[in-house]
Amino acid sequence: MEAHPHALAPADSPALGSLPVEPLLTAEFDADPGAVYRRLRRTYGPVAPVGLMGVPVWLVLDYREVLEVLRNESLWRRDVRCWRARAQGELPPDWPLLAGYEVRQMMFMDEEEHRAARRTHHAALRPFQDARTPEGWELRSAVARYADELVALLAAESGRTGFADLSAQYTRPLLLMVTTKLFGCPVELGDELVMDLWRMLDGGPDAGPATGRALAAFTRLAAHRRAVPGDDLTSYLLLADPDLSDEQLGRELFMNAVYLNDITGNMVLNTLLEVLRGNATVRRSLSAGQLGETVNRAALANPPVANMCFRFAARDVPLGGFWIRAGDIVSPSAAAAHQDLLAIGSSHMVGSTVSTRAHLGWGAGPHQCPSAARELGSLIVTTAVGRVFDHFTQAELTLPHDQLPWRSGPVVRGLKVLPVRYALNPALTPAHRSGELVPAGDAPTGGDRQARGLLAALRRLMFGGG
Ligand code: HEM
Repeated sequence: MEAHPHALAPADSPALGSLPVEPLLTAEFDADPGAVYRRLRRTYGPVAPVGLMGVPVWLVLDYREVLEVLRNESLWRRDVRCWRARAQGELPPDWPLLAGYEVRQMMFMDEEEHRAARRTHHAALRPFQDARTPEGWELRSAVARYADELVALLAAESGRTGFADLSAQYTRPLLLMVTTKLFGCPVELGDELVMDLWRMLDGGPDAGPATGRALAAFTRLAAHRRAVPGDDLTSYLLLADPDLSDEQLGRELFMNAVYLNDITGNMVLNTLLEVLRGNATVRRSLSAGQLGETVNRAALANPPVANMCFRFAARDVPLGGFWIRAGDIVSPSAAAAHQDLLAIGSSHMVGSTVSTRAHLGWGAGPHQCPSAARELGSLIVTTAVGRVFDHFTQAELTLPHDQLPWRSGPVVRGLKVLPVRYALNPALTPAHRSGELVPAGDAPTGGDRQARGLLAALRRLMFGGG
Protein backbone atom coordinates (compact mmCIF):
# COMPACT_ATOMS: atom_id res chain seq x y z
CA MET A 1 0.00 0.00 0.00
CA GLU A 2 1.21 3.52 -0.88
CA ALA A 3 3.10 4.95 2.11
CA HIS A 4 2.77 8.75 1.64
CA PRO A 5 5.51 9.20 4.28
CA HIS A 6 5.29 12.95 4.71
CA ALA A 7 1.73 13.62 3.70
CA LEU A 8 -0.80 15.23 6.01
CA ALA A 9 -4.51 14.64 5.59
CA PRO A 10 -5.91 17.24 3.18
CA ALA A 11 -7.88 19.85 5.12
CA ASP A 12 -11.06 19.05 3.20
CA SER A 13 -10.93 15.30 3.93
CA PRO A 14 -13.56 14.33 6.52
CA ALA A 15 -12.29 13.79 10.06
CA LEU A 16 -13.62 10.80 12.02
CA GLY A 17 -15.36 12.97 14.61
CA SER A 18 -17.13 15.01 11.94
CA LEU A 19 -18.81 12.05 10.23
CA PRO A 20 -22.30 10.79 11.11
CA VAL A 21 -21.81 7.23 12.37
CA GLU A 22 -24.23 4.36 12.80
CA PRO A 23 -23.83 2.30 15.96
CA LEU A 24 -22.23 -1.07 15.20
CA LEU A 25 -23.64 -3.13 18.07
CA THR A 26 -27.31 -3.43 17.18
CA ALA A 27 -29.86 -6.27 17.20
CA GLU A 28 -29.21 -6.61 13.45
CA PHE A 29 -25.47 -7.01 14.10
CA ASP A 30 -26.21 -9.68 16.73
CA ALA A 31 -28.35 -11.66 14.31
CA ASP A 32 -26.48 -11.11 11.04
CA PRO A 33 -23.17 -9.22 11.21
CA GLY A 34 -22.49 -10.16 7.57
CA ALA A 35 -25.43 -8.04 6.42
CA VAL A 36 -24.08 -5.05 8.40
CA TYR A 37 -20.56 -5.45 6.94
CA ARG A 38 -22.04 -5.66 3.42
CA ARG A 39 -24.10 -2.49 3.91
CA LEU A 40 -21.15 -0.56 5.35
CA ARG A 41 -18.94 -1.69 2.47
CA ARG A 42 -21.57 -0.60 -0.08
CA THR A 43 -21.89 2.80 1.60
CA TYR A 44 -18.25 3.62 2.41
CA GLY A 45 -15.93 1.14 0.66
CA PRO A 46 -13.17 -0.84 2.46
CA VAL A 47 -13.14 1.37 5.60
CA ALA A 48 -16.24 2.69 7.38
CA PRO A 49 -16.83 5.03 10.32
CA VAL A 50 -19.00 3.36 12.99
CA GLY A 51 -20.06 4.14 16.55
CA LEU A 52 -18.84 1.77 19.27
CA MET A 53 -20.78 2.37 22.46
CA GLY A 54 -20.88 6.07 21.68
CA VAL A 55 -17.29 6.47 20.45
CA PRO A 56 -16.47 6.85 16.71
CA VAL A 57 -14.11 4.19 15.32
CA TRP A 58 -12.85 3.32 11.82
CA LEU A 59 -13.93 -0.24 11.01
CA VAL A 60 -11.61 -1.84 8.44
CA LEU A 61 -13.62 -4.23 6.26
CA ASP A 62 -11.62 -5.44 3.27
CA TYR A 63 -9.01 -8.18 3.36
CA ARG A 64 -6.21 -6.14 1.79
CA GLU A 65 -6.67 -3.19 4.15
CA VAL A 66 -7.07 -5.42 7.23
CA LEU A 67 -3.81 -7.21 6.40
CA GLU A 68 -2.05 -3.87 5.91
CA VAL A 69 -3.17 -2.67 9.35
CA LEU A 70 -2.24 -5.93 11.07
CA ARG A 71 1.19 -6.17 9.46
CA ASN A 72 2.49 -2.61 9.57
CA GLU A 73 3.30 -2.00 13.22
CA SER A 74 5.27 1.19 12.64
CA LEU A 75 2.15 2.83 11.26
CA TRP A 76 -0.57 1.05 13.29
CA ARG A 77 0.30 1.11 17.00
CA ARG A 78 -1.14 -1.03 19.81
CA ASP A 79 -0.30 1.19 22.78
CA VAL A 80 -3.52 2.83 23.98
CA ARG A 81 -1.49 5.95 24.87
CA CYS A 82 -1.28 6.65 21.10
CA TRP A 83 -5.06 7.20 21.00
CA ARG A 84 -5.65 10.94 20.55
CA ALA A 85 -9.23 10.97 21.90
CA ARG A 86 -8.04 9.30 25.12
CA ALA A 87 -5.00 11.58 25.48
CA GLN A 88 -7.20 14.64 25.00
CA GLY A 89 -9.79 13.45 27.53
CA GLU A 90 -12.58 13.20 24.96
CA LEU A 91 -13.83 9.73 25.94
CA PRO A 92 -16.89 9.20 28.11
CA PRO A 93 -15.39 8.46 31.57
CA ASP A 94 -17.31 5.18 31.92
CA TRP A 95 -16.67 3.91 28.38
CA PRO A 96 -17.01 0.15 29.00
CA LEU A 97 -14.18 -0.97 26.71
CA LEU A 98 -11.49 1.27 28.17
CA ALA A 99 -10.87 -0.75 31.37
CA GLY A 100 -9.61 -3.75 29.38
CA TYR A 101 -7.32 -1.58 27.25
CA GLU A 102 -5.84 0.02 30.35
CA VAL A 103 -4.58 -3.38 31.59
CA ARG A 104 -1.02 -2.99 30.39
CA GLN A 105 0.20 -6.34 29.06
CA MET A 106 1.91 -7.75 25.96
CA MET A 107 -1.00 -7.21 23.59
CA PHE A 108 -0.91 -3.47 24.10
CA MET A 109 2.84 -2.99 23.76
CA ASP A 110 4.84 -1.94 20.69
CA GLU A 111 8.32 -2.47 19.22
CA GLU A 112 11.14 -3.78 21.46
CA GLU A 113 9.05 -3.94 24.65
CA HIS A 114 6.56 -6.09 22.74
CA ARG A 115 9.23 -8.28 21.14
CA ALA A 116 10.82 -8.96 24.56
CA ALA A 117 7.43 -9.93 26.04
CA ARG A 118 6.79 -12.25 23.10
CA ARG A 119 10.17 -13.94 23.57
CA THR A 120 9.23 -14.60 27.19
CA HIS A 121 5.86 -16.05 26.19
CA HIS A 122 7.39 -18.16 23.47
CA ALA A 123 9.99 -19.66 25.83
CA ALA A 124 7.34 -20.37 28.48
CA LEU A 125 4.78 -21.89 26.08
CA ARG A 126 7.24 -23.95 24.03
CA PRO A 127 7.42 -27.00 26.37
CA PHE A 128 3.63 -27.44 26.06
CA GLN A 129 3.67 -27.13 22.29
CA ASP A 130 5.80 -30.20 21.67
CA ALA A 131 4.33 -33.67 22.23
CA ARG A 132 7.88 -35.03 22.75
CA THR A 133 8.45 -33.07 25.97
CA PRO A 134 6.94 -34.46 29.22
CA GLU A 135 4.87 -31.28 29.67
CA GLY A 136 3.59 -31.39 26.08
CA TRP A 137 2.72 -35.07 26.28
CA GLU A 138 1.04 -34.68 29.66
CA LEU A 139 -1.06 -31.72 28.51
CA ARG A 140 -2.17 -33.53 25.36
CA SER A 141 -3.33 -36.59 27.24
CA ALA A 142 -4.94 -34.40 29.93
CA VAL A 143 -7.08 -32.55 27.35
CA ALA A 144 -8.36 -35.85 25.93
CA ARG A 145 -8.95 -37.25 29.43
CA TYR A 146 -10.89 -34.18 30.58
CA ALA A 147 -13.02 -34.32 27.43
CA ASP A 148 -13.79 -37.99 28.11
CA GLU A 149 -14.62 -37.24 31.73
CA LEU A 150 -17.04 -34.48 30.78
CA VAL A 151 -18.82 -36.75 28.31
CA ALA A 152 -18.94 -39.45 31.00
CA LEU A 153 -20.36 -36.93 33.44
CA LEU A 154 -23.04 -36.06 30.91
CA ALA A 155 -23.86 -39.76 30.51
CA ALA A 156 -24.07 -40.22 34.28
CA GLU A 157 -26.23 -37.15 34.86
CA SER A 158 -28.40 -37.02 31.73
CA GLY A 159 -28.28 -40.53 30.28
CA ARG A 160 -26.87 -42.09 27.15
CA THR A 161 -29.44 -40.36 25.00
CA GLY A 162 -30.88 -36.95 25.72
CA PHE A 163 -30.38 -33.24 25.35
CA ALA A 164 -27.25 -31.25 26.18
CA ASP A 165 -25.82 -27.79 25.80
CA LEU A 166 -22.36 -28.39 24.39
CA SER A 167 -21.33 -24.92 25.53
CA ALA A 168 -22.20 -25.05 29.25
CA GLN A 169 -21.85 -28.81 29.71
CA TYR A 170 -18.76 -29.50 27.65
CA THR A 171 -16.74 -26.69 26.09
CA ARG A 172 -16.58 -24.13 28.88
CA PRO A 173 -15.78 -26.58 31.68
CA LEU A 174 -13.20 -28.29 29.46
CA LEU A 175 -11.34 -25.04 28.87
CA LEU A 176 -11.46 -24.15 32.55
CA MET A 177 -10.00 -27.54 33.46
CA VAL A 178 -7.21 -27.04 30.91
CA THR A 179 -6.54 -23.54 32.27
CA THR A 180 -6.30 -24.85 35.81
CA LYS A 181 -3.77 -27.44 34.72
CA LEU A 182 -1.75 -25.25 32.35
CA PHE A 183 -1.52 -22.32 34.76
CA GLY A 184 -0.84 -24.50 37.80
CA CYS A 185 -3.76 -23.16 39.87
CA PRO A 186 -4.17 -24.71 43.30
CA VAL A 187 -7.80 -25.80 43.72
CA GLU A 188 -8.69 -22.91 46.03
CA LEU A 189 -7.58 -20.41 43.42
CA GLY A 190 -9.18 -22.46 40.63
CA ASP A 191 -12.66 -22.34 42.11
CA GLU A 192 -12.41 -18.60 42.56
CA LEU A 193 -11.15 -18.05 39.03
CA VAL A 194 -13.87 -20.22 37.53
CA MET A 195 -16.60 -18.08 38.98
CA ASP A 196 -14.99 -14.74 38.14
CA LEU A 197 -13.88 -15.64 34.61
CA TRP A 198 -17.39 -16.77 33.80
CA ARG A 199 -18.84 -13.55 35.19
CA MET A 200 -16.25 -11.50 33.33
CA LEU A 201 -16.62 -13.38 30.05
CA ASP A 202 -20.40 -13.11 30.18
CA GLY A 203 -20.16 -9.32 30.57
CA GLY A 204 -22.95 -9.23 33.13
CA PRO A 205 -23.60 -6.41 35.63
CA ASP A 206 -20.83 -7.76 37.87
CA ALA A 207 -18.26 -7.95 35.02
CA GLY A 208 -16.22 -4.91 36.16
CA PRO A 209 -15.64 -6.03 39.76
CA ALA A 210 -15.18 -9.63 38.51
CA THR A 211 -12.38 -8.41 36.21
CA GLY A 212 -10.70 -6.73 39.17
CA ARG A 213 -11.05 -9.87 41.28
CA ALA A 214 -9.72 -12.08 38.44
CA LEU A 215 -6.68 -9.79 38.03
CA ALA A 216 -6.08 -9.96 41.78
CA ALA A 217 -6.44 -13.76 41.73
CA PHE A 218 -3.91 -14.08 38.89
CA THR A 219 -1.53 -11.83 40.83
CA ARG A 220 -1.88 -14.14 43.85
CA LEU A 221 -1.29 -17.13 41.57
CA ALA A 222 1.91 -15.44 40.32
CA ALA A 223 3.11 -14.92 43.90
CA HIS A 224 2.21 -18.52 44.79
CA ARG A 225 4.16 -19.99 41.87
CA ARG A 226 7.13 -17.73 42.58
CA ALA A 227 7.25 -19.32 46.05
CA VAL A 228 6.33 -22.86 44.90
CA PRO A 229 7.40 -23.36 41.26
CA GLY A 230 5.90 -26.22 39.25
CA ASP A 231 5.73 -27.55 35.68
CA ASP A 232 3.22 -24.95 34.58
CA LEU A 233 2.98 -21.86 32.40
CA THR A 234 3.04 -19.47 35.37
CA SER A 235 6.32 -20.91 36.64
CA TYR A 236 7.82 -21.05 33.15
CA LEU A 237 6.97 -17.40 32.48
CA LEU A 238 8.85 -16.53 35.66
CA LEU A 239 11.75 -18.74 34.65
CA ALA A 240 11.91 -16.99 31.25
CA ASP A 241 11.79 -13.52 32.83
CA PRO A 242 12.57 -13.52 36.58
CA ASP A 243 12.21 -9.70 36.59
CA LEU A 244 8.44 -9.92 36.04
CA SER A 245 6.66 -8.53 39.10
CA ASP A 246 3.70 -10.49 40.46
CA GLU A 247 1.38 -7.74 39.17
CA GLN A 248 2.81 -7.84 35.64
CA LEU A 249 2.78 -11.62 35.53
CA GLY A 250 -0.81 -11.52 36.82
CA ARG A 251 -1.76 -9.21 33.92
CA GLU A 252 -0.11 -11.51 31.35
CA LEU A 253 -1.86 -14.58 32.81
CA PHE A 254 -5.16 -12.73 32.75
CA MET A 255 -4.78 -12.03 29.02
CA ASN A 256 -3.72 -15.61 28.27
CA ALA A 257 -6.70 -16.88 30.28
CA VAL A 258 -9.06 -14.87 28.08
CA TYR A 259 -7.57 -16.44 24.94
CA LEU A 260 -7.48 -19.88 26.45
CA ASN A 261 -11.05 -19.80 27.76
CA ASP A 262 -13.11 -17.44 25.70
CA ILE A 263 -11.40 -17.49 22.30
CA THR A 264 -10.37 -21.16 22.24
CA GLY A 265 -13.79 -22.12 23.65
CA ASN A 266 -15.55 -20.18 20.92
CA MET A 267 -13.35 -21.81 18.31
CA VAL A 268 -14.44 -25.23 19.63
CA LEU A 269 -18.11 -24.19 19.50
CA ASN A 270 -17.86 -22.54 16.08
CA THR A 271 -16.17 -25.68 14.69
CA LEU A 272 -18.78 -27.98 16.25
CA LEU A 273 -21.51 -25.80 14.80
CA GLU A 274 -20.09 -25.86 11.29
CA VAL A 275 -20.05 -29.66 11.43
CA LEU A 276 -23.53 -29.94 12.99
CA ARG A 277 -25.15 -27.52 10.60
CA GLY A 278 -23.85 -29.57 7.71
CA ASN A 279 -21.19 -27.28 6.22
CA ALA A 280 -20.23 -29.75 3.49
CA THR A 281 -16.54 -28.84 3.19
CA VAL A 282 -16.07 -28.84 6.96
CA ARG A 283 -17.78 -32.24 7.24
CA ARG A 284 -15.70 -33.64 4.40
CA SER A 285 -12.45 -32.55 6.06
CA LEU A 286 -13.62 -34.00 9.39
CA SER A 287 -14.54 -37.37 7.92
CA ALA A 288 -11.21 -37.43 6.07
CA GLY A 289 -9.54 -37.06 9.48
CA GLN A 290 -8.16 -33.62 8.58
CA LEU A 291 -9.04 -31.93 11.84
CA GLY A 292 -6.63 -29.03 11.27
CA GLU A 293 -8.34 -28.33 7.98
CA THR A 294 -11.74 -28.55 9.70
CA VAL A 295 -10.61 -25.83 12.11
CA ASN A 296 -9.26 -23.65 9.27
CA ARG A 297 -12.57 -23.87 7.45
CA ALA A 298 -14.56 -23.08 10.58
CA ALA A 299 -12.26 -20.11 11.32
CA LEU A 300 -12.81 -18.84 7.80
CA ALA A 301 -16.59 -19.13 8.14
CA ASN A 302 -16.73 -17.68 11.64
CA PRO A 303 -13.55 -16.37 13.31
CA PRO A 304 -13.99 -16.15 17.13
CA VAL A 305 -11.93 -12.93 17.23
CA ALA A 306 -14.34 -11.31 14.78
CA ASN A 307 -12.92 -7.82 15.18
CA MET A 308 -9.31 -7.52 16.28
CA CYS A 309 -8.07 -5.29 19.03
CA PHE A 310 -7.81 -1.62 18.22
CA ARG A 311 -4.84 -0.06 16.47
CA PHE A 312 -3.96 3.65 16.51
CA ALA A 313 -2.56 5.53 13.50
CA ALA A 314 1.01 6.78 14.09
CA ARG A 315 0.50 9.54 11.50
CA ASP A 316 -1.96 10.70 8.86
CA VAL A 317 -2.46 7.95 6.29
CA PRO A 318 -4.95 7.18 3.50
CA LEU A 319 -6.84 3.90 3.96
CA GLY A 320 -9.79 2.78 1.87
CA GLY A 321 -11.68 5.89 0.80
CA PHE A 322 -10.61 8.02 3.79
CA TRP A 323 -7.68 9.79 5.37
CA ILE A 324 -7.08 8.38 8.83
CA ARG A 325 -5.53 11.04 11.06
CA ALA A 326 -2.66 10.51 13.50
CA GLY A 327 -4.06 9.11 16.75
CA ASP A 328 -7.34 7.85 15.21
CA ILE A 329 -8.63 4.49 16.37
CA VAL A 330 -9.19 1.62 13.89
CA SER A 331 -10.72 -1.82 14.39
CA PRO A 332 -9.57 -4.37 11.77
CA SER A 333 -12.41 -6.85 11.19
CA ALA A 334 -11.36 -10.43 10.48
CA ALA A 335 -14.99 -11.45 9.98
CA ALA A 336 -15.61 -8.75 7.36
CA ALA A 337 -12.24 -9.48 5.70
CA HIS A 338 -13.20 -13.16 5.39
CA GLN A 339 -16.48 -12.19 3.78
CA ASP A 340 -14.44 -10.13 1.31
CA LEU A 341 -11.98 -12.99 0.76
CA LEU A 342 -14.79 -15.46 0.10
CA ALA A 343 -16.34 -13.05 -2.39
CA ILE A 344 -13.03 -12.41 -4.18
CA GLY A 345 -12.16 -16.07 -4.47
CA SER A 346 -15.53 -17.72 -4.58
CA SER A 347 -14.10 -20.22 -7.00
CA HIS A 348 -10.49 -21.39 -6.75
CA MET A 349 -9.34 -19.66 -3.52
CA VAL A 350 -11.92 -21.23 -1.27
CA GLY A 351 -11.98 -24.57 -2.99
CA SER A 352 -8.32 -25.33 -2.31
CA THR A 353 -6.62 -26.29 0.93
CA VAL A 354 -4.04 -23.51 0.56
CA SER A 355 -6.67 -20.79 0.55
CA THR A 356 -8.20 -21.76 3.88
CA ARG A 357 -4.87 -20.95 5.52
CA ALA A 358 -5.31 -17.36 4.36
CA HIS A 359 -7.83 -16.90 7.18
CA LEU A 360 -7.13 -14.27 9.81
CA GLY A 361 -8.47 -16.34 12.69
CA TRP A 362 -5.02 -16.20 14.30
CA GLY A 363 -4.46 -12.57 13.35
CA ALA A 364 -1.44 -11.58 11.23
CA GLY A 365 1.76 -9.58 11.61
CA PRO A 366 3.75 -8.95 14.80
CA HIS A 367 0.80 -9.43 17.19
CA GLN A 368 -0.58 -12.60 15.65
CA CYS A 369 -1.24 -15.46 18.02
CA PRO A 370 2.24 -16.79 19.05
CA SER A 371 3.12 -20.03 17.24
CA ALA A 372 3.25 -22.08 20.45
CA ALA A 373 -0.17 -20.73 21.49
CA ARG A 374 -1.56 -21.56 18.06
CA GLU A 375 -0.32 -25.12 18.37
CA LEU A 376 -1.88 -25.34 21.78
CA GLY A 377 -5.15 -23.79 20.62
CA SER A 378 -5.31 -26.15 17.61
CA LEU A 379 -4.56 -29.14 19.80
CA ILE A 380 -7.35 -28.24 22.21
CA VAL A 381 -9.87 -27.51 19.46
CA THR A 382 -9.14 -30.63 17.45
CA THR A 383 -9.14 -32.86 20.55
CA ALA A 384 -12.35 -31.33 21.92
CA VAL A 385 -14.16 -31.60 18.57
CA GLY A 386 -12.71 -35.01 17.77
CA ARG A 387 -13.76 -36.46 21.14
CA VAL A 388 -17.36 -35.31 20.67
CA PHE A 389 -17.63 -37.16 17.39
CA ASP A 390 -15.83 -40.21 18.81
CA HIS A 391 -18.29 -40.48 21.69
CA PHE A 392 -21.54 -39.39 20.07
CA THR A 393 -23.18 -41.74 17.60
CA GLN A 394 -25.77 -39.06 16.99
CA ALA A 395 -25.74 -35.30 17.57
CA GLU A 396 -28.15 -32.88 15.98
CA LEU A 397 -29.02 -29.27 16.65
CA THR A 398 -32.32 -28.78 18.47
CA LEU A 399 -32.71 -25.26 17.02
CA PRO A 400 -32.46 -24.19 13.38
CA HIS A 401 -28.94 -22.83 13.04
CA ASP A 402 -30.19 -19.34 12.15
CA GLN A 403 -32.05 -19.19 15.48
CA LEU A 404 -29.09 -19.96 17.70
CA PRO A 405 -28.33 -17.12 20.15
CA TRP A 406 -24.96 -15.44 19.60
CA ARG A 407 -22.88 -13.37 21.93
CA SER A 408 -21.79 -10.65 19.57
CA GLY A 409 -19.63 -8.02 21.23
CA PRO A 410 -17.12 -5.53 19.84
CA VAL A 411 -14.43 -8.23 19.62
CA VAL A 412 -15.77 -11.76 20.07
CA ARG A 413 -18.51 -13.58 18.23
CA GLY A 414 -19.41 -16.84 19.91
CA LEU A 415 -22.40 -19.02 20.63
CA LYS A 416 -24.22 -18.52 23.92
CA VAL A 417 -25.51 -22.09 23.82
CA LEU A 418 -25.12 -25.07 21.49
CA PRO A 419 -28.16 -27.26 22.20
CA VAL A 420 -28.09 -30.78 20.76
CA ARG A 421 -30.04 -34.00 20.95
CA TYR A 422 -27.45 -36.72 21.38
CA ALA A 423 -26.93 -40.46 21.55
CA LEU A 424 -23.73 -41.73 23.11
CA ASN A 425 -21.63 -44.61 21.90
CA PRO A 426 -22.56 -47.59 24.15
CA ALA A 427 -18.89 -48.55 24.29
CA LEU A 428 -18.23 -45.60 26.64
CA THR A 429 -16.60 -46.97 29.79
CA PRO A 430 -19.04 -47.31 32.72
CA ALA A 431 -16.19 -46.60 35.18
CA HIS A 432 -16.62 -42.95 34.33
CA ARG A 433 -19.61 -42.22 36.50
CA SER A 434 -20.21 -39.14 38.56
CA GLY A 435 -18.46 -39.37 41.91
CA GLU A 436 -16.18 -42.18 40.76
CA LEU A 437 -14.30 -40.54 37.93
CA VAL A 438 -10.99 -42.00 38.97
CA PRO A 439 -10.75 -45.81 38.88
CA ALA A 440 -9.70 -47.20 42.28
CA GLY A 441 -5.95 -47.38 42.72
CA ASP A 442 -5.35 -44.85 39.96
CA ALA A 443 -4.65 -41.90 42.21
CA PRO A 444 -4.28 -38.58 40.41
CA THR A 445 -1.33 -36.32 41.10
CA GLY A 446 -0.41 -32.63 40.81
CA GLY A 447 -2.25 -30.67 38.15
CA ASP A 448 -4.65 -33.57 37.59
CA ARG A 449 -5.81 -33.48 41.19
CA GLN A 450 -6.47 -29.76 40.75
CA ALA A 451 -8.46 -30.34 37.58
CA ARG A 452 -10.46 -33.12 39.25
CA GLY A 453 -11.26 -30.85 42.21
CA LEU A 454 -12.42 -28.34 39.66
CA LEU A 455 -14.47 -30.99 37.87
CA ALA A 456 -16.31 -31.72 41.12
CA ALA A 457 -17.01 -27.99 41.56
CA LEU A 458 -18.17 -27.69 37.96
CA ARG A 459 -20.42 -30.70 38.38
CA ARG A 460 -22.15 -28.94 41.29
CA LEU A 461 -22.41 -25.79 39.17
CA MET A 462 -23.78 -27.52 36.08
CA PHE A 463 -26.06 -30.14 37.58
CA GLY A 464 -26.68 -28.71 41.03
CA GLY A 465 -25.69 -32.01 42.68
CA GLY A 466 -23.94 -32.37 46.05
C1 HEM B 1 -8.15 -21.48 18.71
C2 HEM B 1 -7.70 -20.69 19.64
C3 HEM B 1 -7.12 -19.30 19.45
C4 HEM B 1 -7.43 -18.33 18.53
C5 HEM B 1 -8.49 -18.38 17.44
C6 HEM B 1 -6.55 -17.21 18.80
C7 HEM B 1 -6.57 -16.03 18.09
C8 HEM B 1 -5.72 -14.96 18.33
C9 HEM B 1 -5.73 -13.73 17.59
C10 HEM B 1 -6.68 -13.39 16.45
C11 HEM B 1 -4.76 -12.93 18.10
C12 HEM B 1 -4.35 -11.54 17.60
C13 HEM B 1 -5.29 -10.45 18.08
C14 HEM B 1 -4.97 -9.10 17.48
O1 HEM B 1 -3.98 -8.93 16.75
O2 HEM B 1 -5.72 -8.16 17.77
C15 HEM B 1 -4.14 -13.66 19.19
C16 HEM B 1 -3.12 -13.18 19.98
C17 HEM B 1 -2.66 -13.83 21.10
N1 HEM B 1 -2.99 -15.11 21.52
FE1 HEM B 1 -4.21 -16.39 20.58
N2 HEM B 1 -5.74 -17.52 19.87
C18 HEM B 1 -6.05 -18.79 20.29
C19 HEM B 1 -5.48 -19.49 21.32
C20 HEM B 1 -4.53 -18.98 22.19
C21 HEM B 1 -4.02 -19.67 23.34
C22 HEM B 1 -4.39 -21.10 23.74
C23 HEM B 1 -3.14 -18.82 23.95
C24 HEM B 1 -2.29 -19.00 25.19
C25 HEM B 1 -2.35 -19.97 26.03
C26 HEM B 1 -3.11 -17.59 23.17
C27 HEM B 1 -2.33 -16.51 23.44
C28 HEM B 1 -2.29 -15.36 22.68
C29 HEM B 1 -1.45 -14.23 23.01
C30 HEM B 1 -0.50 -14.15 24.20
C31 HEM B 1 -1.70 -13.24 22.03
C32 HEM B 1 -1.11 -11.84 21.96
C33 HEM B 1 0.04 -11.77 21.01
C34 HEM B 1 0.63 -10.37 20.88
O3 HEM B 1 -0.03 -9.36 21.13
O4 HEM B 1 1.80 -10.30 20.48
N3 HEM B 1 -3.95 -17.74 22.10
N4 HEM B 1 -4.74 -14.91 19.30
